[in-house]
Amino acid sequence: MERTLVLLKPSTVMRGLIGEVTSRFEKKGLRIVGMKMIWLNDEILNEHYAHLVGKPFFPALKASMMRTPVVAMCLEGTDAIEVVRFITGYTNGRKAEPGTIRGDYCMSNQQNIVHASDSPTSAAIEIKRFFKPEELYDLGDLNMDRLYALDLS
Ligand code: TYD
Repeated sequence: MERTLVLLKPSTVMRGLIGEVTSRFEKKGLRIVGMKMIWLNDEILNEHYAHLVGKPFFPALKASMMRTPVVAMCLEGTDAIEVVRFITGYTNGRKAEPGTIRGDYCMSNQQNIVHASDSPTSAAIEIKRFFKPEELYDLGDLNMDRLYALDLS
């Protein structure tokens, strides 16, 4: 079972899409094991988007991430990191496939609804960045056999 970090960006908050986007993840079969609303600042964004420092869009990206609080959530499921990236879709909403979250809900590169960890290494770092251990819950095996069967090869 994997865990991954998702942020519902200010564009989602401003457009009243928190419930709708969250329900996409839940309906898919991912479980929310941590969730909170937080206002990001320069320090955390410089760290979170360190790979983009120096890009021309970096200042605008940071400003856009501080317009409202974001909703941070930790999602759990089999192959959760890859599955969440897959249903999130391509970065630029105008090029994202219909049926993906970005493809269905946005028209922008920057205001693209969600952030999702892109690898097991990033997920581990990002979950720690946004959640204290005591803010994450172990929901046990409840219903897991109805969501996932073992992949038998
Ligand atoms: P990136 O990590 O490349 O993409 P992703 O969010 O899909 O992992 O970029 C981080 C964010 O930076 C992206 O979600 C939106 C913003 N961004 C822009 O505003 N313009 C751009 O040209 C790119 C590549 C990203």
